[in-house]
Amino acid sequence: MTLPLHNRRILLVIGGGIAAYKALDLIRRLRERGALVRPLLTKGAQEFVTPLAAAALAGERAHTDLFDRAEEADIGHIKLARDADAIVVAPATASLMARMASGEASDLAATVLLATTLPILIAPAMNVRMWQHPATRRNLATLLGDGVQVVGPNDGAMAEAEFGPGRLAEPTEIADAVESMLAARRPASGFGFLAGRTEAGALTGRRVLVTSGPTHEPIDPVRYLANRSSGRQGHAIAAAAAAAGAEVTLVSGPVAIPDPSGVRVVRVETAREMLAAVEAALPADIAVFTAAVGDWRPAEAKGAKIKKDGTEPAPLRLVENPDILATIAALDSGRPALVVGFAAETDAVLENARQKIARKRCDLLVANDVSAESGVMGGTANTVHLIGRDGTVETWPTLDKDEVGRRLVERFAALLPR
Ligand code: CTP
Repeated sequence: MTLPLHNRRILLVIGGGIAAYKALDLIRRLRERGALVRPLLTKGAQEFVTPLAAAALAGERAHTDLFDRAEEADIGHIKLARDADAIVVAPATASLMARMASGEASDLAATVLLATTLPILIAPAMNVRMWQHPATRRNLATLLGDGVQVVGPNDGAMAEAEFGPGRLAEPTEIADAVESMLAARRPASGFGFLAGRTEAGALTGRRVLVTSGPTHEPIDPVRYLANRSSGRQGHAIAAAAAAAGAEVTLVSGPVAIPDPSGVRVVRVETAREMLAAVEAALPADIAVFTAAVGDWRPAEAKGAKIKKDGTEPAPLRLVENPDILATIAALDSGRPALVVGFAAETDAVLENARQKIARKRCDLLVANDVSAESGVMGGTANTVHLIGRDGTVETWPTLDKDEVGRRLVERFAALLPR
């Protein structure tokens, strides 16, 4: 059996931070899977691990500094930036992320990262407050926009006796993410430039239905209950399905983003309108329920604006909305062959998602963490877990929502009965 990373050449950039010691274990894990690893240590990394240790584990010389003349003559930074299949940055410190995002070339690591066109995966590790700082959020958004992929950081107790996101992803998780990044880039039809893109025509002749965005549940003519969904993920899926040749109907709640091209868009406001529009759009081969449907609506929407009259306002009585996904998944006739749900969770993501797939009877559930810290709701990036009916879980690295859309559509096409 060929190893999953057989002969794949990985340039491993090790940043300076207490988590640098885990990069040594990562070298082992990558080599176990067949990869050839070339380590590159920043100056900061060398405070924590030695180039000798990295070189011994990699079985390759470790690179350290731009101005090492012998090194330049031997293998220059441009060659380092080219002679690999992927670059992995682990741990990616706040400072290294900042250098990458601003395009600095102040040391060998930053120069190589600037000079490369290779796929890059970063595994951030830093203090939780540094991770949550707006400057790091901005740098992360820039890097994701540049096509950089991200794995972790994980929640956990940190060296400074604090708790929260900031801990380096486990070496096996990083190795999994490297595998998935390289697998997505393997040419589908012999053309490298098609790599990672849905094969054109993979959904030709298929009908795809996507729900997207929030719903607005009226309280009176000027007020409503809503949520923070932007519609970006659902719209990206609809766009990717259209690009793969499908006939796509997008049933969208109120959003502020443009309609994807080549897609029929049906605009709705409330959950009940969304259900009616979905039923009217059937039959479909694939139905993807990305919308953040309001679970409740005011029991009665007043016909005229509610006025304040100096007394305590009447409590808002709520009633439950229909569950659109569960309704369609339970259809006896006309059920789409592939029904995909999303699970927006703020905690115990996988556990809740597993229960949800059983309760809603969908074929596949895409779970994501929408806690405020994740920045997913309203943001441009997403970290998803794919959960199958049999409980199998696949975790993807953090990706731009457009890229998540393309990869999901690729997966849907593969799962559809021929
Ligand atoms: N969904 C739906 N109709 C609803 C509520 C949810 O179609 N009335 C769909 C969503 O589009 C998503 C999935 O159900 O695909 C899960 O949504 P989520 O909000 O995570 O689940 P809820 O059913 O609302 O469960 P809870 O809020 O209790 O987690």
